[in-house]
Amino acid sequence: MFESVIIASGPTIEPIDPVRFISNRSSGKTGFHLANEAKKREIDEIIFITGPTNYIPSDVNLVHVDTAISMRDNILTYFKEAGVIIMAAAVSDYRSSEYCHEKIKKGNDRVILELVKNPDILKEIGEKKSDDQILVGFAAETTNIFKNAKEKFERKNLDLLVLNEISKENPVFNEDLNQVFFIYKNGIIKLDKMSKMEIAVLIWDEIFKIAEQT
Ligand code: CTP
Repeated sequence: MFESVIIASGPTIEPIDPVRFISNRSSGKTGFHLANEAKKREIDEIIFITGPTNYIPSDVNLVHVDTAISMRDNILTYFKEAGVIIMAAAVSDYRSSEYCHEKIKKGNDRVILELVKNPDILKEIGEKKSDDQILVGFAAETTNIFKNAKEKFERKNLDLLVLNEISKENPVFNEDLNQVFFIYKNGIIKLDKMSKMEIAVLIWDEIFKIAEQT
């Protein structure tokens, strides 16, 4: 059904100096399971664009990236041919305003690190995509989760948003189990707590349903 799909996975890392960087707790498990599930469906080419993670699927067109900017550039290279784009990556929202080529030496008791905003890749793809391309995003929310997720769905012009509520009961990061909500144009579905592999199957089921409707 789809000739080409893009799955973006893992964290990005934003260097500060040759030994330090800013990153996040994303394991890349969800992206890994989404790629493995895609292999079981009628998809000719899976372009897997990933930040550093131990979860690398086999038999995909693999593109390793590090920073948010390198992830964006690679997604834009492949995006025109892709029928589906899934942004399962945990993109760092900010990067250090300056890269220091020498290791920063310990000095003052306090240091201030200036951060600048990274490009919002999902939003940019949402603006550029055509009506027959399906765009899937993720949201990690701790407060006002449905209001924030609905707003994110509209703002980023998505076809499906997978909402994670981050809480003590549902820590998400590095776990095998997760409880998510699917947000669509016309509603919300709460899924039971299940494995990230089972969630990947349901996400692909939804993508195929959306494709049939468009
Ligand atoms: N995302 C992206 N580019 C960024 C940040 C996030 O493409 N610079 C994508 C993620 O891959 C995810 C979605 O946007 O699919 C939502 O990420 P999330 O961190 O929940 O939301 P943000 O847009 O960063 O907004 P906020 O941090 O304010 O909730």
